[in-house]
Amino acid sequence: MSVLKEAKGHLVSDNLVAIPTETVYGLAANAYSEEAVRKIFETKQRPMNNPLILHFADRKKLDDYAVDIPEIAYRLADKFWPGPLTLVLKKARHISPIVTAGKDTVGLRIPNHPLTLELLSNLDFPLVAPSANASNHISPTSPDHVRKSLGDRTPFILDGGFCKRGLESTIIGFIGEAPVIYRYGAIGKEELEDFIGQPIDSVTTSSSPLAPGMLSKHYSPKTKLILTNDISEGLALYAGKRLGLLLFGTSNVSDNHKVKNLSPNRDLYEAASNLFNYLYELEAMELDLIIAEFVPEIGVGRSINDRLMRAANSN
Ligand code: TXA
Ligand code: MG
Repeated sequence: MSVLKEAKGHLVSDNLVAIPTETVYGLAANAYSEEAVRKIFETKQRPMNNPLILHFADRKKLDDYAVDIPEIAYRLADKFWPGPLTLVLKKARHISPIVTAGKDTVGLRIPNHPLTLELLSNLDFPLVAPSANASNHISPTSPDHVRKSLGDRTPFILDGGFCKRGLESTIIGFIGEAPVIYRYGAIGKEELEDFIGQPIDSVTTSSSPLAPGMLSKHYSPKTKLILTNDISEGLALYAGKRLGLLLFGTSNVSDNHKVKNLSPNRDLYEAASNLFNYLYELEAMELDLIIAEFVPEIGVGRSINDRLMRAANSN
């Protein structure tokens, strides 16, 4: 049996499948089966008040899942789908409250991965898919990460290799007709602004978050992580500890610490694609502390810094 048939078999039987996307692996279930969707919350130990993103393949279905869609949302969908953009829109009546955590909006996206697009086009239901990690742990960008994070709760994995982007989708909601960034992600703010032709506000930190991914604790390795603008200062402070360093660009750190460089050539897309993988690798070394360097606060750099700050916030 082909892997796609096998994945479909699990999904139609209300079981979960870990699916590859261009951003991170998703933990997918039939969005129309309450029993299947419940398994996502159990497996991830995710709070029920955190809504799920609906994934589908056919752009024409957008009007089936959402209502009162602003014109600009259609333009964004046409430009960025399939791709790492999630649109939060007013939900259609038939979308279950278990998917949306009781909200009247639903997150929607067409992911860009050939295997998952083929799987989706062979299903007569959309998939809900949060990242396939235990709640608050590091997001997975490979099958190995899914197994590391979910352990014996790991479902069937549709193996699509490493995720190319390595950072979750950028989430956009709307206040009236105006787009607002709910979560920084794989598409940079500037790229969206250039396309729309106007500045976009963001509401990505709040004590009563619009998207619980905005809660400060998230994306955390089990090892304590701190952030700095100056690695040598950090090194001086923590002398004598077993340190892991997460760097960006050229560095003159030369000692026996464990060093991972997100992108020696200062390429922010490369850095994004390495971020979660390096956090998993550093975590596996069971060090005393990880010291990470901020990256430039521009484009996807802003999203990388966002993830690092949340990782640092949690211990
Ligand atoms: O790239 C991605 O978006 C990945 C891949 C698998 O597609 N998925 C992902 O899902 O990151 P998850 O559940 O880990 O994060 C989705 C975020 C959550 O923070 C959730 O609160 C927010 O999207 N969200 C979903 N529906 C929402 C809604 N109706 N209103 C506001 N936020 C919503
Ligand atoms: Mg997640």
